[in-house]
Amino acid sequence: MKTIVPALLNESKDKLVILDQTLLPEQEKFLELDKREDIWEAIKKLRVRGAPAIGISAAFGMYVCSNKIETKDVAAFKKEVKELKEYFATSRPTAVNLFWALDRMWTRFEKEEAAGKSVDEIKAAFLEESEEILVEDQKMGEAIGKYGLELLKPGMGLLTHCNAGGLACSGIGTALAPMYAGQDAGYDFKIYADETRPLLQGSRLTSYELYKAGLDVTVICDNMASIVMRQGKIDAVLVGTDRITANGDVINKIGTSGVAILAKEYGVPFYVLGPYSTVDLNTPTGNDVEIELRDSDEIGNGFGRRTAPVEVKAYNPAFDITDNKYVTAIITEKGIVKPPYKENLEKLFKG
Ligand code: MRU
Repeated sequence: MKTIVPALLNESKDKLVILDQTLLPEQEKFLELDKREDIWEAIKKLRVRGAPAIGISAAFGMYVCSNKIETKDVAAFKKEVKELKEYFATSRPTAVNLFWALDRMWTRFEKEEAAGKSVDEIKAAFLEESEEILVEDQKMGEAIGKYGLELLKPGMGLLTHCNAGGLACSGIGTALAPMYAGQDAGYDFKIYADETRPLLQGSRLTSYELYKAGLDVTVICDNMASIVMRQGKIDAVLVGTDRITANGDVINKIGTSGVAILAKEYGVPFYVLGPYSTVDLNTPTGNDVEIELRDSDEIGNGFGRRTAPVEVKAYNPAFDITDNKYVTAIITEKGIVKPPYKENLEKLFKG
């Protein structure tokens, strides 16, 4: 299958090209960005979104913007690059991939600096590092797809929440990766996509990319997950993640934890799929993660139409915390992790 790469460099490698996901499914429009404020805004406003894609965009943003810095003095260059890193880090708080990618670029800077490299050489290293992050992400999606498929059988009904496909990453995604792998293997899955209130990533993005790739996908409203499980239409839930903490708690799009609790009630396995860049062993539990609060207008004035009186307050946390006890397994590019998560995540990912 062919998926869209949501964030990459243009041909002359001086601009970040992103697919503006706020316009989907109506319009496929690419934006070319080279100003730090525009890249920051694109991440903040979810023009590019999904944990790995945010990380990739931030890494390319670091390269594109630092490449325009004119000084040849390494110390002066370093000061500006550090400011850039800190600026991009303020765009969104929850997906750890953003900080992971920025730290990775910074580590590369320090390595090149320690080796006595010039500003131009450091810029070339930045290009290399950001491109490696993209390629690595594509390979991780393939591996996650392969491991995920081991847990599934032909003809199964699968439920997913939000969008954790190619549009959230750079290849076949994470939660959607086994669905694409299954398509290649002739598995004929029946996929249900939660619409994912309030920004509808499930109906606008997941159904869009799965349909375009030729998979059998049906959109349901978030509050229909219980009835489709009760009716026996769902054999497994597959979701992506913005952060997996050391104890195996999962931070993902708001509504994920409700689906997990329902899945337990109905005896449906609940699988979380993500790459190592989403595993955060430095944060002990989900309660230690900052949950992004977004504009109340996303609820009260969604997509340009008032859906609640203007005087009424709306509370809009963008993510929730799924307790590890609801997670049947975590599927990564390194293999399938089962409880106890603290020990098993450490075994696979420490160092
Ligand atoms: O707010 P978004 O659209 O960036 O949220 C995205 C999600 O919650 C995804 O499920 C998550 O990032 C996993 S992406 C592989």
